[in-house]
Amino acid sequence: MKNGKILVTGGTGYIGSHTVVELIEAGYEVEILDNLYNSKIEVLDKIEKITGVKPKFYKVDLKNYDDVLKVFTDTKYDAVMHFAGLKAVAESVEKPLEYYENNIGGTVNLLKAMVKNGVKRLIFSSSATVYGDQGVAKLDESMETGKGITNPYGRTKYMIEEILKDVAVSDKEFEICILRYFNPIGAHASGLLGEDPNGDPNNLMPVVMRVAAGRIPKLLVYGDDYPTRDGSCVRDYIHVVDLAKGHLVALENISGGVKIYNLGSGVGTSVFEMIKAFEKESGEKLPFEVVGGRSGDLAELIADPSLAYKELGWKTELNTADAMRDTLNYLKNN
Ligand SMILES: NC(=O)c1ccc[n+]([C@@H]2O[C@H](COP(=O)([O-])OP(=O)(O)OC[C@H]3O[C@@H](n4cnc5c(N)ncnc54)[C@H](O)[C@@H]3O)[C@@H](O)[C@H]2O)c1
Repeated sequence: MKNGKILVTGGTGYIGSHTVVELIEAGYEVEILDNLYNSKIEVLDKIEKITGVKPKFYKVDLKNYDDVLKVFTDTKYDAVMHFAGLKAVAESVEKPLEYYENNIGGTVNLLKAMVKNGVKRLIFSSSATVYGDQGVAKLDESMETGKGITNPYGRTKYMIEEILKDVAVSDKEFEICILRYFNPIGAHASGLLGEDPNGDPNNLMPVVMRVAAGRIPKLLVYGDDYPTRDGSCVRDYIHVVDLAKGHLVALENISGGVKIYNLGSGVGTSVFEMIKAFEKESGEKLPFEVVGGRSGDLAELIADPSLAYKELGWKTELNTADAMRDTLNYLKNN
C-alpha cells in the first residue's frame, strides 16, 4: 500500500517518531497512540516542525483495552505500526511481570481491537535478540529463534512473534510484517528528534552521549577479552533514519501471512571503534574504563540483511560516522 491512514503505537518514542516523519513525508495520514511512559508530548511539535503536519495524538496505555478500542472506533485505519513497548534489558530482569504485562498484554489488546474493527495489517518492532545464541556472528531469518534468549525483554519479543504467527494462521486476511532490528543509533538530521530515554539508559549510544554531556563521568566498557578484533563486543549499528525507511518499504510491500526481515547494516562495529568514531566527530576525548564482561553478552552479532534487500529493495545508506554526527547535533540542540 502506498497511502492510507496509519496508527503508530509508540509514535512519540525514538524509532516511532522517526518513522512517523518518513510516513508523513511519503504522504500517509498518521495518528499516534502512546502513554508517554518513555517519551515526551513535545515530540509532536518537533514532528510538525519537520513535516508541517501535527499528527493526531491519543494518550492511551495499551494495557487498557477499553481505551485502545475507543481509538479504533474513531478512525478506520489501513494499517498499524506497533512500536510501543518497554525495552530496557536489565530492567526486564528485575521486573519481568511488568514486561510481560506491558509488551505481551499490550499487544494482545491491540490485536483484539484490530480484529474487532477489521484492521488486519500490522508491522511489528521485533529485535535481533530473538535469535538468542546461535554460535555464529551473522544472523539470518532462516535460523530457529527463541533458544538461549537471556532476558525477559527478549522473550517478550519472541513470544509476540509467535502470537502474530498464530493470529495469521487463524485469520487468512491478516498481513503481518515482523522487523527484527539490530542496534538503532543516530538522530534526525534536523537535530529535532533523537533518543532521549527517561531514566538510566543501558544502550551504548545514550550512555556515550550522557558522558559527552557531563551527566555521567565515564563510559564503562564491558569486557576487552572477547574473541573479536580488539577484544570488545561487536554489534551491527543501524542509523534510525535507515530503520524508519525500512518500515516504509515494509508497508509498501506488505502482503498476506507473516513476513520477517532483519533490519541491520550487515557491518559490525566494536565498542572501541564506536569510541574512536565519537572522538573523531566531536574532537573530544571520551573517558572510559574497561570492566568485566556482562553475563549474557555475546561477542559479536551482525545482521544478514540480504533478504530485505532482495524482497524489499532496502539497504542502509548511512553509517556509524553519520549516526555519530547526527547524534552530536541532536545533543547540541537539546
Ligand atoms: N531501540 C532499540 O535498541 C531497539 C532494538 C530492537 C527493538 N526495539 C523495539 O522497537 C520499539 C521502539 O523502540 P524505541 O527505541 O523507539 O523505544 P522508546 O521507548 O523510545 O519508544 C517506545 C514508546 O512506547 C511507549 N509505550 C510503552 N509502553 C506503552 C504502553 N503500554 N502503551 C502505550 N505506549 C507505550 C513509550 O512511552 C515510548 O514512547 C520497541 O518495541 C522496542 O522494543 C528497539
